[in-house]
This record gives sequence, C-alpha cells and structure tokens, in this order.
Amino acid sequence: MAILAQTPPMGFNTWNTFGANINEQMMLEITDMIVEQGYRDAGYEYVVIDDCWSLRERDEDGNLVPDPEKFPHGMKYVADYVHSKGLKFGMYSCAGTRTCAGFPGSFDHEYQDARLFASWGVDFLKYDYCYFPANGDCKNRYLTMAQALRASGRDILFSACNWGWHEPWNWMRSIGAHMYRSTGDIWDNFPSTSGIMKSQMDKFNANAAGCFNDMDMLTVGMNGQGNVGDPNCNTYTEYETQFAYWCFCGAPLMMGADIRKVGEEYRTLLQHKGLIALDQDAECRPALMLKEWNGCNTFVRHLADGEFAIGVFNFHENDQYAVVMFSDLGVPVGSGVKLALTDVMTGEQLAPRRDDLMAEVKGHHFRIWRAKFVD
Ligand code: GLA
Repeated sequence: MAILAQTPPMGFNTWNTFGANINEQMMLEITDMIVEQGYRDAGYEYVVIDDCWSLRERDEDGNLVPDPEKFPHGMKYVADYVHSKGLKFGMYSCAGTRTCAGFPGSFDHEYQDARLFASWGVDFLKYDYCYFPANGDCKNRYLTMAQALRASGRDILFSACNWGWHEPWNWMRSIGAHMYRSTGDIWDNFPSTSGIMKSQMDKFNANAAGCFNDMDMLTVGMNGQGNVGDPNCNTYTEYETQFAYWCFCGAPLMMGADIRKVGEEYRTLLQHKGLIALDQDAECRPALMLKEWNGCNTFVRHLADGEFAIGVFNFHENDQYAVVMFSDLGVPVGSGVKLALTDVMTGEQLAPRRDDLMAEVKGHHFRIWRAKFVD
C-alpha cells in the first residue's frame, strides 16, 4: 500500500460553493477544469464530493445509495472519469448516525461503507461528526473507520472532520487520520478566516508528514457567492492572506470556489508557485509563532535544504511597519552570519543582512520571505 499524505493534500471540495446542489455533470466539469486550467499541474489532486450525495435511507442490504437524480450513473462512473484525468476521487460520510445534512451516517456501518467506497474507486474520505451518539466513544469510532479504510483493500486518504473538538491535534495522527479539521466551519469573510488563523497559531506542532492540520476548505475566489458565501466577503487582499497563511502553515489546500467561474486573478493566486512550494515543502515542519506586536504576528518555519521562511501576518485593518529582529529567529547579531532574503510574493531579493528587517505590511495582509544563511 502507498504511504498517503507525505505532503499536505490538495484538491477541490463541493461544500463551500455548492452545498446540497451537487450533481454528476458539475463534478465532471470541475474535473475538466482542474486539468484544463492548470490546477492539476500546480498540485491539486483530489476531487471531493461533500455531504448530500446519497438518498435519505440505506437500501435493504444496508448500503448507502447515491441519489439517482444527482448521480444517474452512480459513483463509480464519476470516480472512473476523475481517474481518467489523472486525478483522485473523494467522498464524504459521518462518524454519527446521520450526516450534518441528515443523510445516513456510518456509525455501526464503518466496514460496510468503507468496502462500498473502495468498490466505487474512492481515494479520499471526509468523515464528519454530526449526530454522534452521546454514549459513543469518539476516538474509537474514528479509529474504527481508519481501520475499515485500511482493511478495504484500497488506499483511501482519511480526512477526519471533528471541528477541533476533543483536541484532535493530540490523537488524530495516532488513530490513523491523514488530515483532521481543527476548527468549525469557515465562512467567506475575514472575521471567520482570521478567527481560524488565530485559533491555530499555537496548535501546529502535530503538523507533519502523514497527518496535517486542516483549517477547512479555502474560500479564495468565492466573492460572496455560494453555500458559505457572505455579502461582506473577503477582499482580494484578504483572499491572498488566507491562501498565504494556509500555505505558510503547511495546511491541506482544498479549493472551495466554483473554479469553472473564478476570475483570472484567483486562478493565478491558487496556483502561486512560491506559496505552494512552502505548503508542499518536503521537510513538512510546522510553523512557529514568535511574537505578536501591534496586531502583527511573526512566524518562522524551517524548510528543506537548510532554508527557512519568515512570515508576518497583519490582523489589523491598518497598515503597519513590522520589525523582524533576527535574534528572535535564533540568529543574533553576534552569530557572524547574514541572511539572504527573497520576498515570496514579489520575488525581490534583498542584499544579505544581519540584525533585523523592517517592512511595511498592509492591513489584513502579510509579508513572507524565504531566508538562507550566507557568510
Ligand atoms: C459540517 C462540516 C462541513 C460540511 C458540512 C456538510 O458542517 O464541518 O465542512 O462537510 O458538515 O453538511
């Protein structure tokens, strides 16, 4: 069997834009777009159907049944199409007796459902936490599905979603999840996005190859439209910040906008090579928050090949001047070394320097540099 999730999983999920309005045709179109618009080449791999794909009841054998109006050829047909484009196919179920939208959940059906998903060619399972019985044992039930997937005979990435309840960063890796939702649902506005960002600053230590902290699907490019859309949606600047933070932290990148319709600037952002390189860095180390000053948080993150990234995120709506003192990064002035810095967004290379760096950070925006040592 393959080792899954060696770097943060990347893909598309239906929930943020489409909610219950999903069907075969749009899944095929999204799949085509991922290839034709360059997302596959940028690293996006999993095409995931979220809640609301099944009928309200299981069949007489206890099997889940795809809604024939939404998916007239069944799920294997969609999976085969996704696979024919060199991509992987994801589906959704729930650890409770019902999904969050009230469709049948997998409680007490874990092995049966895992086998059914495997028979359809599913490569990824998002597993939610609604309608979980009060006398149920949460960890044991996530472990049971992790084992059921492993026993299914197919490599299926386990995307466990329990909204950060019961401190999942302490046990989701051990029970066999490949990513775990660490927060409640994202909405397409800056208070929601920045709330998620702040809530996870000190919880990234468990982020490493094989299992990643999932801060929820991206809203980049939704522009107020869709299921989690908001008329007071993020601005382009704020979308950039969302994408950059997810990448800086090495979080899974699951697109939530209707990529058949997003503007060119969002496609470019979602495929930003420098940011995606941070997200997918081979060393998979977590980011470390160094300090908070005037609404700006400074982070450092070790990267492969001895480089590291410095990030300053401004949660304040006003522009700020941020000072990054190299001693905070573990590089005091007496070290005798200098840092060569490259701005990840502009590509600007700064002359090697010691001591500190002062930079303007726009309101609700960020600066990220890649750093390396020079004599
Ligand atoms: C929960 C999850 C969401 C989405 C919905 C579907 O709210 O957190 O990501 O899957 O359920 O009903």
